[in-house]
Amino acid sequence: MDIREKYRHALAGCLETEPGSIGLFWKGRVGLYAILRALGVGEGDEVILPAFTCVVVPNAILYLKAKPVYIDVDPLTFNLDAGLLEGAITPNTRAILAQNTFGLSADMDLILKVAQKYKIRVIEDCTHGFGGAYRGKINGTLADASFFSTQWNKPFSTGWGGFTVVRDAELARKVRELEESMARPSARQERMLAAQIWARKNLLTPALYWPVLRLYRKLSHWGAIPGSSEASELHTTTMPRDYLMAGGRTQAREGLLQLQRFSQIQQRRTELAAQYDGLMQELGFPAVFLPPHIAHSYLKYPLLVRDRNYFFELAERHRIRLGDWMLSPIHPVEGEWEKWGYRAGSCPVGERLSRHVVNLLTDLDMGEKEIARTQAFLRRYAGELLV
Ligand SMILES: Cc1ncc(COP(=O)(O)O)c(C=O)c1O
Repeated sequence: MDIREKYRHALAGCLETEPGSIGLFWKGRVGLYAILRALGVGEGDEVILPAFTCVVVPNAILYLKAKPVYIDVDPLTFNLDAGLLEGAITPNTRAILAQNTFGLSADMDLILKVAQKYKIRVIEDCTHGFGGAYRGKINGTLADASFFSTQWNKPFSTGWGGFTVVRDAELARKVRELEESMARPSARQERMLAAQIWARKNLLTPALYWPVLRLYRKLSHWGAIPGSSEASELHTTTMPRDYLMAGGRTQAREGLLQLQRFSQIQQRRTELAAQYDGLMQELGFPAVFLPPHIAHSYLKYPLLVRDRNYFFELAERHRIRLGDWMLSPIHPVEGEWEKWGYRAGSCPVGERLSRHVVNLLTDLDMGEKEIARTQAFLRRYAGELLV
């Protein structure tokens, strides 16, 4: 069997679904675009999404000439505030995006109930959520369709990459047709990706993290490193030239490897999140919200701080690795939000969270010493944390 088909079968096995319901794409955002297009979303249609997302999400909506409708965020879940949904629905609403921000679950009970009432499709943005579950159902299998990302720093990584899961057979067939109609990565693109995966595994060890990060910043500044988003995706709402691309062989090969060790990756994330929960309680701050029917994937552990720039400076001074997602309601765009249909001030919670959030890491390469240093750092600077 072709390696891409093997990967499709392996993903279907993990998600307890049929291989035919899985689409393979060069990036998660392309999977979202394919789902929206398969749903027939187009000019005049509206798609509801949280005002705490990545810019490539509204981009996929705008490429189809539809309108992103932002909803404010529930500060407990960092996801769409489901209580605000009904107020945002209009006769033009075609889909609701339910996101697993940082691997935390949204209030899916209420989102699905409202969607059912108004007969609107729900798409799970599981780019952070592979490995989690809600009421015993695996993330990505609760709604009509879902898309996942396997970009760097995602639940498991294939450099960049993404896949979709679609429940309805007819819709799944359309998404697969779109996948088949897209270009495959060229031999050069496959080689470049394989080289980057190798470099990341072999060079970005925790010991080399800070020197490599400094080098990376310099090279990125000079435009010498291809990022996961093109400049045009961050500055315009026009689809980049090579956007419509299906998943490739390098991604399939790496994905199969990563899936073999995924239970170990997820176990580590859950253990680390429990340790951070304990520390937050010790310091008198609330732990991450965890109702009994949810198993978060804990891609990151979010924390609010008084002054984020200062906190990052402190962390770098003490060699504490932190994550910096979401720097803006449409990360990482700062300013010019109107281009993406977002009006400044319209979602104050999303804006506040994006001004104050930092992420603790939950990765497999976090050794005991680094965890102890991170905990000591948080105890020392507990005065910088916010509720
Ligand atoms: C919330 C969210 N949705 C969608 C995406 C897009 O995933 P990809 O980079 O695979 O296109 C990202 C990327 O980081 C994301 O953070």
